[in-house]
Amino acid sequence: MTRIAVVGAGGMLGTDLMRALSDHDATALTRNELDITDADAAVEVLSGYDVLVNASAYTRVDDAESDEENAHLVNAVGPHNLALAAARHGSRLVQLSTDYVFDGTATEPYPEDAPRHPVSAYGRTKAAGELLALEHNPGRTAIVRTAWLYGKHGSSFPRTMLKLAADRDTLDVVNDQLGQPTWTGDLAAQIVALIDAGTPSGIFHGTNAGRASWFDLAQAVFVCAGLDPDRVKPTDSSAFQRPAPRPSFSVLGHRAWLDAGIEPMRDWKQALQAAFDSGALTAE
Ligand SMILES: NC(=O)c1ccc[n+]([C@@H]2O[C@H](COP(=O)([O-])OP(=O)(O)OC[C@H]3O[C@@H](n4cnc5c(N)ncnc54)[C@H](OP(=O)(O)O)[C@@H]3O)[C@@H](O)[C@H]2O)c1
Repeated sequence: MTRIAVVGAGGMLGTDLMRALSDHDATALTRNELDITDADAAVEVLSGYDVLVNASAYTRVDDAESDEENAHLVNAVGPHNLALAAARHGSRLVQLSTDYVFDGTATEPYPEDAPRHPVSAYGRTKAAGELLALEHNPGRTAIVRTAWLYGKHGSSFPRTMLKLAADRDTLDVVNDQLGQPTWTGDLAAQIVALIDAGTPSGIFHGTNAGRASWFDLAQAVFVCAGLDPDRVKPTDSSAFQRPAPRPSFSVLGHRAWLDAGIEPMRDWKQALQAAFDSGALTAE
């Protein structure tokens, strides 16, 4: 049986990934078991696995603007260390990445081979991590870019909406940024499908299909929670200035899954309903 190590197993995606791998030979490694910034520890701890999945990251997008050095350590030096360990042990590596490697100025879905052009510190560090992982474990690395994640664990936009709905009559939500809301339950299953297919190398876009604005997502969350969606009001990004620029168009294409013989992920609305049905999201 394929031996799998999940690094960053205590995070939002890592937790769901371990659940999705319950019938596989999978080992959970939290930061306590492996700090990915430690190159020697990576080689030692990651010996004996066929597949390494890196779900760990510095994910505080706004903090990264003033803390790029530390973000780079986790998001670029970390994957570099994992790729070196994978190359030493002959393992395949699945490196999670992000839509923030793009600048968000496109008008059509980004294909997997679109040039990287990050405009935030977080995006720069994740783009560097992709390149280092591909370069140092050549032919055995899969990059899985995801976006707009939510799940049972950790903080996420749908959870924030549900909390705010309990406190406020109406909510203003931006309607001028488009992306692909993605359930960690679906992404975890997709990564398992990738591993079961032999972990082909390349770049894959691990997002639910379709597109939505944050306003669309907030309204859909209200509907799923049995709340009145008209309580959500549209506004634009100028009302919410944040340290890191947000891409206005983060829609990713899904061609690479089909080329690898794997069904792409379902539409975001079906996934959101499934997340509620499974109890991963609940009205507060
Ligand atoms: N969340 C999103 O909307 C989103 C969007 C696009 C892409 N992604 C990508 O998807 C992946 C999973 O994200 P997520 O939201 O599940 O992240 P998360 O919940 O923030 O979890 C990240 C995990 O990484 C661990 N970690 C941080 N530094 C580490 C280190 N030096 N060594 C080992 N572990 C370390 C953290 O441990 P501690 O708790 O101890 O810090 C945490 O358990 C990441 O690659 C992220 O960049 C996420």
